[in-house]
Amino acid sequence: MDTVDLIWHNGEFVAWEDAQVHVLSHALHYGTGVFEGIRAYETERGPAIFRHREHIDRLTKSAELYYLEMPYSAEEIREATHELLRRNGLASGYIRPLVFRGYGSLGLYATDAPIDVIIAAFPWGAYLGEEGQRHGIRAKVSSWRRISPAGLIPHAKASGQYLNSILAKTESQKAGYEEAILLDERGFVCEGSGENVFIVRDGELVTPPHVAAILDGINRKSIIQIARDLGYTVVERDIARAELYLAEEMFLTGTAAELVPVREIDDHPLGEPGEVTRQLQAKFMDALHGRAEEYLEWLDFVEVPDESIGRITPAA
Ligand SMILES: Cc1ncc(COP(=O)(O)O)c(C=O)c1O
Repeated sequence: MDTVDLIWHNGEFVAWEDAQVHVLSHALHYGTGVFEGIRAYETERGPAIFRHREHIDRLTKSAELYYLEMPYSAEEIREATHELLRRNGLASGYIRPLVFRGYGSLGLYATDAPIDVIIAAFPWGAYLGEEGQRHGIRAKVSSWRRISPAGLIPHAKASGQYLNSILAKTESQKAGYEEAILLDERGFVCEGSGENVFIVRDGELVTPPHVAAILDGINRKSIIQIARDLGYTVVERDIARAELYLAEEMFLTGTAAELVPVREIDDHPLGEPGEVTRQLQAKFMDALHGRAEEYLEWLDFVEVPDESIGRITPAA
């Protein structure tokens, strides 16, 4: 992990190595935390955080869904994040806010345990590799089903829920694939372990709907809009497993992975990224890096008063 100088911890900027919690913190035992994965990109107009407000909004809603009272307003979180990037001299990188139940009680109804908040930002390259972004990855449908809305809250980005993603990801890695695709409890396609799924069928873009237990991905939303703006028909509907094999194209979207084509699924070759995927990926990368005028409103520019901000190249 590439480290930087400071982490924001309950309103203070503390040294990276001093950002610590007690071993009896509630979230460590039960996963009672909610978080976000956000990216900042270097643009011609300075560092910009992609859809920052939407991420903070989802963080706030995830907290609400798990009865975690946010001790800071959305604007306070936003400003702290800007200041964190400035103080660390980060022109780009991955941003990880986490709201969690801290130390004070280990009971399950632990409303007296405090809510702690941290924001970290650090360099992090393409999650599924630059090669994967260019030529596509090999994915496998997992034997693990995505968490059911009957037992947990797929709409929330909650720490404990990621045990489900970790099981699926671990299985796929051990079997020699780069990513897992989870089906929902009904057996329809849901999403990757940390990405939403899209396929192209008969020239239309198809992606699973909310009732398929997806996380309401911010990049999913962005790709749907870009695709519609480019004139594609986008359909949100259930996808049968075999439709992945029959797809003309397939790709994944997420903050960590950005847009990653899938070139093989369950050993069925889909081939090099197709025309639709390439076109969407190019426009999406333009949007992320501030090169698409029509999507500039998605960027939260960080004011950098002095020109001394470091240029940190994310690790590949
Ligand atoms: C389980 C899961 N699904 C989907 C996504 C994609 O969401 P987003 O595009 O908001 O990063 C993520 C990443 O946050 C994820 O962890």
